[in-house]
Amino acid sequence: MKPMLNIALPKGRLGEKVYAMFEKAGFDCPAIRETNRKLIFENAENGVRYFWVKPSDVAIYVEHGVADIGVAGKDILLEYEPDVYELMDLDIGKCRMAVAAKEDFYDDPEHTLRVATKFSNIARNYYRSQGRDIDIIHLNGSIEIAPILGLSDVIVDIVETGTTLRENKLAVVETIVPISARLIANKSGFRFKNEPITKLMEQMSKLLEEEK
Ligand code: PRP
Repeated sequence: MKPMLNIALPKGRLGEKVYAMFEKAGFDCPAIRETNRKLIFENAENGVRYFWVKPSDVAIYVEHGVADIGVAGKDILLEYEPDVYELMDLDIGKCRMAVAAKEDFYDDPEHTLRVATKFSNIARNYYRSQGRDIDIIHLNGSIEIAPILGLSDVIVDIVETGTTLRENKLAVVETIVPISARLIANKSGFRFKNEPITKLMEQMSKLLEEEK
């Protein structure tokens, strides 16, 4: 029997889209479409085993080799810098990492800027590149509240449609980097299971071409 390709998918809406792409690429696993709360599915015939994991944890499973490949947002890769190969941009889950603040925000260079974020590493690297002194206030969610309540001057967060910012009277000050979902691979998994991974990448590239 051929060795299983272990694939970590981000649970949720993005993961559904990603699985649909894998399915079209010939890596289908019908059991995954059954409605239940299972987290591991396999199709031995096809040589694939899928795991649904928390989106921010995909890279951890791949880095540790429990999953050979997975799909993670560029935001997570930039924030945690996992030791994995980034193989392909899947052109889905598109958004941007941005600095945002209250609509009347004025950046006073005399003061250390207070930055609230879930993405401390990205924020630190960005402001270092700008030569700007900052204090990071690390939060775990609902970041938009921080400048409204005066906890921070700005936020560094993901902006997709911009609705959350608008409805909270905040505005983008600057885009740091565009974000999208990436196919990633464990470094030794990539060598040992190169054949199915290469086949997957070829099929995915074709799909992306067709959609253009
Ligand atoms: C993300 C992000 C913004 C929102 C942006 O939040 O942190 O709050 O989505 O989307 P929009 O531009 O389309 O409004 P998420 O839902 O992941 O929750 P959390 O960060 O508050 O945990």
